[in-house]
Amino acid sequence: MMNTTSAPVLHAAGISKFFPGSIALDDVELTLYSGEVHALLGENGAGKSTLIKCLTGAYRRDAGMIRLDGQEIDPRGPLDSQSLGIGTVYQEVNLLPNLTVADNLFLGWQPTRHGLLDRKTMVRRAGEILSGFGLEIDPSLLLSAYPIAIQQVVAIARAVEQSGKVLILDEPTASLDRDEIDLLFSVVRQLTARGIAVVFITHFLDQVFEIADRVTVLRNGRLVGTRQMDDVTQSDIVEMMLGRHLETHLRRRDRSAPGKSLLKLKNFGKRGMIEPFDLDLHEGEVVGLAGLLGSGRTETVKVIFGVTAADQGNAELRGKPVKMANPRESIAMRFGMCPEDRKTDGIVGDLSVRENIILSLQARQGWHRPLTRTKINEIVDHYVKALDIRLASPDMPIRLLSGGNQQKALLARALATEPELLILDEPTRGIDVGAHAEIIELIEHLRAHGMALVVASSEMAELVTYSNRIIVLRDRHHVRELEGDAINTGAIVRAITQQEALA
Ligand SMILES: Nc1ncnc2c1ncn2[C@@H]1O[C@H](COP(=O)(O)OP(=O)(O)OP(=O)(O)O)[C@@H](O)[C@H]1O
Ligand SMILES: [Mg+2]
Repeated sequence: MMNTTSAPVLHAAGISKFFPGSIALDDVELTLYSGEVHALLGENGAGKSTLIKCLTGAYRRDAGMIRLDGQEIDPRGPLDSQSLGIGTVYQEVNLLPNLTVADNLFLGWQPTRHGLLDRKTMVRRAGEILSGFGLEIDPSLLLSAYPIAIQQVVAIARAVEQSGKVLILDEPTASLDRDEIDLLFSVVRQLTARGIAVVFITHFLDQVFEIADRVTVLRNGRLVGTRQMDDVTQSDIVEMMLGRHLETHLRRRDRSAPGKSLLKLKNFGKRGMIEPFDLDLHEGEVVGLAGLLGSGRTETVKVIFGVTAADQGNAELRGKPVKMANPRESIAMRFGMCPEDRKTDGIVGDLSVRENIILSLQARQGWHRPLTRTKINEIVDHYVKALDIRLASPDMPIRLLSGGNQQKALLARALATEPELLILDEPTRGIDVGAHAEIIELIEHLRAHGMALVVASSEMAELVTYSNRIIVLRDRHHVRELEGDAINTGAIVRAITQQEALA
């Protein structure tokens, strides 16, 4: 229940943050009222995460002041802001995979009742907290034992426990399923009912309309405005974000027939990971992989690219038997892949954007035959322009790019190898609405030029626009294949939820 007549719980004004070569925030204001869900929106690189980090003290701001309940505060870092009652989930989950789930939940603020840290109590309490989020997992196991979506929920639970006044969520739903999102939203509603203010950063506008009371939009580090959700439409918000109108309607397009067969998989699979499946992929064809989280989408692309080698079945590339034993050999066969989890499988954080983009191409060519400076610059300039990667300089370490721009740089790395088969796992995750449309265009363009693509995505409406065929997965089985006019979101949902006779 938002109360805008009383004083704000948090008021930040005149916030500025400069980095060498870029102004990340320029005189930004944010006001939070008790009990509201406040969406913070903007394109990739607009300054959302930087604003959050300035509020929690993870970054030193260069100007501006922050008031919490009317008192000026100056948090020196995440632990400091936690103790003030500001719980935060940062965009890149920053938990410690080699500690237990319980340790991660309580790190920095262990329940030391009576001055003692009782492990048993801690594990039990962790179990209680997590089951409140619908997670029945063993908190005494290492965090790394669980998939990224579960780690995300652990990070959220941790922040919720710490948020006495404000809860900040920076793209918390990027790797969550509808069920988990519903759970998160019900927790958010419980918190706002208790008067906590929630900041919600996302690129999913539907979710904003579902949960938010007000919205603040940033563009290029500047405040565009703050509005009541009741006063704006989806296209108003998109226009505020992009500074221009965008046709967001997704529709399925006509497409030319696929070309020659490229890759044929028969009974291909890996025990314990993905059940054997068949795939016949042609030049100029997009095969979409649909299914819920954990259904085997990522496992499928991983065996195709040889991230984990298949242990059954066989593969033929243009009629010749091949093995995808590891990514290096796959790249040599002109396969390219852009992984789902950029942080663990993708970027090399300390290398420059430039080095990250040419990494796969250089690896395929061999490190003893270095690409020339001119060639490198040509490639990097081309993809930075083509994918509109926002950066101060290609020489900056890639970890300093905004999340969405890191994702684009990874796509550039795969494209730079000019693959014949391109595998994309969640290509639009964390990507802003404008860039979404551009990536869909790009997929269409690559397909039209004869590339074969396998695209795994949780965005069914997007899969429908660009796929020639869609394989639906359930429980690590390929359960259904949709083609031509049979492709629509309704059919995908029915196949996922078993509301049809097993095909
Ligand atoms: N430590 C840093 N050093 C240099 N530049 C940085 C640093 N952190 C952020 N930036 C720059 O500040 C700008 C804003 O980045 P920020 O991460 O806040 O964007 P964002 O709105 O969260 O985008 P996304 O939606 O992609 O997550 C970007 O241009 C980014 O490259
Ligand atoms: Mg961000």
